[in-house]
Amino acid sequence: MLKEEYATKVSAYFAGTPYGQWLKDEGVPVFEDWAVPDVWKLETAPWPRLGVRARFITIYPQMEGQRGMYVADIEPGGQTEPIRHMYEQMILILEGHGTTEVWQEGDSRKHVFEWGRGSIFSPPLNAFYRMYNLGSDAVKFVAYNRAPTAFTEYRNVDFIFNCPFAFRDRFNGEDNYFQVATRPELTGRANDRNIWETNFVADAFTTDLDSAEYKVSAGHITPFRMARNSMDAHISQWPVGRYHKAHYHGAGAMLLGLRSTGFILIWPSRAGNQPYSNGHADDVIEVPWGRGSIYSPPNEWFHQHFNTGNEPARHLAIRGGNLFTLSMLGGADGTHANMISTAEGGTLLEYEDEDPLVRRRFRSALTANGVDNKMPDELYEEGYAQAHFG
Ligand SMILES: [Fe+2]
Repeated sequence: MLKEEYATKVSAYFAGTPYGQWLKDEGVPVFEDWAVPDVWKLETAPWPRLGVRARFITIYPQMEGQRGMYVADIEPGGQTEPIRHMYEQMILILEGHGTTEVWQEGDSRKHVFEWGRGSIFSPPLNAFYRMYNLGSDAVKFVAYNRAPTAFTEYRNVDFIFNCPFAFRDRFNGEDNYFQVATRPELTGRANDRNIWETNFVADAFTTDLDSAEYKVSAGHITPFRMARNSMDAHISQWPVGRYHKAHYHGAGAMLLGLRSTGFILIWPSRAGNQPYSNGHADDVIEVPWGRGSIYSPPNEWFHQHFNTGNEPARHLAIRGGNLFTLSMLGGADGTHANMISTAEGGTLLEYEDEDPLVRRRFRSALTANGVDNKMPDELYEEGYAQAHFG
């Protein structure tokens, strides 16, 4: 299907969904497109429910995954209205610093924690929260949530925002709840993926990450989960002159650029592992990528991130959770398919198996930027992945 035709149809479909209708009723402008070039530059407008300026964001592939998103500003000395909702949400602070109060229905004491630029936290499901800007500059934050799923399920705004049930199994006013937890030791497996259970990340721009050679040469990735949510997230960083392996999975993920610049290649997995070589070059879409850009890979589309800037690249990825697709079916031990090579039946495309034109495209982009290629030649030798990652 042509990109434009898909966009027209998905936009019309989305407008008729309960969540799409609610966005209209809230009266906040919506940014709709395939990607956000720079979230810092999106205009916001007053959102009475939250008491601050906001802009809803709808990226077409996320509609398939039924995920919602918005960016909001809190002016100096300002605060959000108290709010609770029957959907999970994660918040990334892009700029500024302040505090958040959190409490459950019936609690007499409010839990307070402080945050700054780069902080990530999740208001526990259906707990009240209120954010305060304590700085002299505006606070800007992005929220990613499962609101569309809740609207599809319940179709009742009053229930979603005024349900008195307290999920005390998720948050019960514990002291130090919103502190950074210790990262787990890696097990030493080649495709190690110990989830960091932490209810707070202090600074996504700089936090230490774990080695993850299996996904990106000389790269680091730390997956984490917050507030007993079903959704999970990870931060990935990789060096100057290198790029991620391609992989695919279900729709709905949000990828937000934190550092450096480059591009992303996406193509439907139906077009094969080597789309240029097998006559599907037209199916490959190149998306510019950089600090503040947001994109979402469509369902079962390969996606591959290239750093062509002169600093290490870093991004935040949040997935919706509970999004079962056949492409998630990997190993018998529950390992996701995107951690298993395509040669082994998974959806992770090793460097040695990728289309040779991919690395040529990368090298020409590096040359144009005056940055050296740092991908070692041995990565492309047959059998390299098997020898190093099992
Ligand atoms: Fe991915």
